[in-house]
Amino acid sequence: MAIQVQGTQFHLKGKHVSYIFSLYKERFLTHIYWGKRFESDCDLSYFPDEFIYSRANAVHVRLDETNHMFMSDLQLEFSVFGGGDYRLPTFHARYADGSTVSEFTYEGYRIMDGKPQLKGLPSTYDEGDAQTLEITFRDSRTGIRAVLLYTIFEEYDVITRSIRYENCGTERADILSAQSTTVDFYGQDYKMLTLEGDWLRERSMEWRKVGHNTMTVESRRGMSSHMCNPFIALAETNATENGGDVYGFSLVYSGNFAASAEGNSCGGTRVTMGINPFNFEYPLSPGEQFQTPEVVMVYSDTGLNGMSNRYHRIYRERLCKGIYRDAERPMLINNWEGTGTHFTKEKLAEIARGGKALGLELFVLDDGWFGKRNIAGSLGDWYVNRDLLPDGLEGIANETKALDMKFGLWIEPEMISPESELYRAHPDWCIHAEGRNRTLCRDQLVLDLTRAEVRDYVVDVICKVIRSADISYIKWDCNRNITETASMRQTHDFVMGLYDILDRITGAFPEILFEGCSGGGGRFDPGMLYYMPQTWTSDDTNPIRRLKIQHGTSVVYPPVTMTAHVGKIDVGKEGYNHFLNTCAMVAMAGNFGYEMDLSLLSEDELEQAREYVEMYREIRPTVQFGAFYRIESPFEGRFVSWEFVDDTRAVLFVYQTEKESNGAERKIKLSGLDPNANYRCRDRVYSGEALMKVGLRVPLQRYEYFADCYVMEKLEG
Ligand code: GLA
Repeated sequence: MAIQVQGTQFHLKGKHVSYIFSLYKERFLTHIYWGKRFESDCDLSYFPDEFIYSRANAVHVRLDETNHMFMSDLQLEFSVFGGGDYRLPTFHARYADGSTVSEFTYEGYRIMDGKPQLKGLPSTYDEGDAQTLEITFRDSRTGIRAVLLYTIFEEYDVITRSIRYENCGTERADILSAQSTTVDFYGQDYKMLTLEGDWLRERSMEWRKVGHNTMTVESRRGMSSHMCNPFIALAETNATENGGDVYGFSLVYSGNFAASAEGNSCGGTRVTMGINPFNFEYPLSPGEQFQTPEVVMVYSDTGLNGMSNRYHRIYRERLCKGIYRDAERPMLINNWEGTGTHFTKEKLAEIARGGKALGLELFVLDDGWFGKRNIAGSLGDWYVNRDLLPDGLEGIANETKALDMKFGLWIEPEMISPESELYRAHPDWCIHAEGRNRTLCRDQLVLDLTRAEVRDYVVDVICKVIRSADISYIKWDCNRNITETASMRQTHDFVMGLYDILDRITGAFPEILFEGCSGGGGRFDPGMLYYMPQTWTSDDTNPIRRLKIQHGTSVVYPPVTMTAHVGKIDVGKEGYNHFLNTCAMVAMAGNFGYEMDLSLLSEDELEQAREYVEMYREIRPTVQFGAFYRIESPFEGRFVSWEFVDDTRAVLFVYQTEKESNGAERKIKLSGLDPNANYRCRDRVYSGEALMKVGLRVPLQRYEYFADCYVMEKLEG
């Protein structure tokens, strides 16, 4: 049993991890332990320890005649406003009488095999390999129930948490904050990792020391955003890539989120994560329910790499779904960086033919094909521009098919241009506040997906587009964030509306590969990955800057989910092009493709470009479905290395981002190999043990930038 209950103690047991908490004095769910797996079933009921001393301004919890606790010393799993816990609450609501104080008491628990679906929300799913614990609390005065859901994926060493609120009373409550998780850690000897950024520099790794008071990362843009990812990790101060305790929190949600680490004066650290309480107020009438999104929680005692390995596995196998979950993803050529919206039918055909000559498998037509997009904004008018494509999408799809390639298309369904016919017909269909300006961004507005008729229109028109030609792939873009929300609940309802249309559209076309995009990687989050198993990582395809973007993204997201293309390159060099090589080696460490006007490449460069396609075809299963290790970091120096490994081989990418004169050669120690097996690499045989303990020698190069790929094939016997 992955979930064990001993008296008032609950134990979630994974293959290598234990998560233990208990019910204390029938009122408090107290956190006891999260870390390496307990082998014995020991009784930890002496936690929390009761002691007597005084704390100023702290609220006592009287236990009996002589003993008491202070609220500030209790490590809680669920906390409400009122009653003396001054830390950030899990739940905060305003009741009909205007009061915002709650008082929840324990009602009971139940254990279920499997994992229930969260209504209307994306989440990890089980395949008979998870168990769920439900713990119910009830607010004595209003009758509101809080149902805490804990799921353990035993094989994956992953715990998910969320909370469902049910109004079983007779009066309305307005939820002011409904967090998905609260975990109170002992001590403050932690640093916090976040993934910060902007357009063209998404997901930079940023560390801060946990101290007193609250550090919060958040989005207030209505979407998860380029600026901050819905993820934090708390790591022991001395944890590294390969050692030390690390605790990851990743929210399966694509809207406004907040994650906080709060050091309190009594020496503990509280982590809270969920929907951002900023501008959030959600009415819950009698009979209604509110489900929070889920947090996926991962513990690793082998540093950050150990945490990332666990996220990669669960997200690849129990978040992404559909036929492409386990299928190799096609190598594509996209016209965007080559032509922008200024293309002709002939140019597109030329790019597709060029891609075919390289060995690519899918041609993607990006923005500019619909309405009057190449003249004025037409977002919302999803019919083909016949001036540009007289034979419609069908014509270009058929030409692509004739090359024995698949055809893919770009769309941006959540948007509306003020210049569009749709806007003229429905000026009230965009998100706006009456009597206020409608702020434009990229000359466009956001459709109000909280309205059923708008959602129905989007589903209908997009399904028609997809059915109009033989389409195998869709790139779903979203190029602005939300500004004027008219009501407090609107941003959350927008996200729920988006999930509804994604569910309906992706559900109608299970054979199509969907890719998320948002001005590059502005919505690279687990919520989107549930519907679309890959995301455009960034609009920046410069390989040196991409190293940081892909390195940071890999902290949570598996490389197969990160699309990475060779984009604009320095062309026209004689002979071997090192810039092209670096671009390709960086892109090959993800979900690989090209995005350029191939006619700008010389014959030599085209030959070089073709070799990368061949090489990626060979290593694709390992890169897309193997384990991934970060070895050297672009955030720390001029050398970067990444390893992919499965049962058949290891693939090591090495990069040098600056020239170094007279430096030392590198010895790169690999991970995850079979110590008893031999590996062949470039006509030499190495033992797995030696590659892990001594390392592979990588010579320094005299080039300004340089990249190489070492493939180590595992030998039989
Ligand atoms: C966004 C995407 C690009 C491209 C353009 C088209 O910026 O990230 O890849 O599709 O939109 O307008």
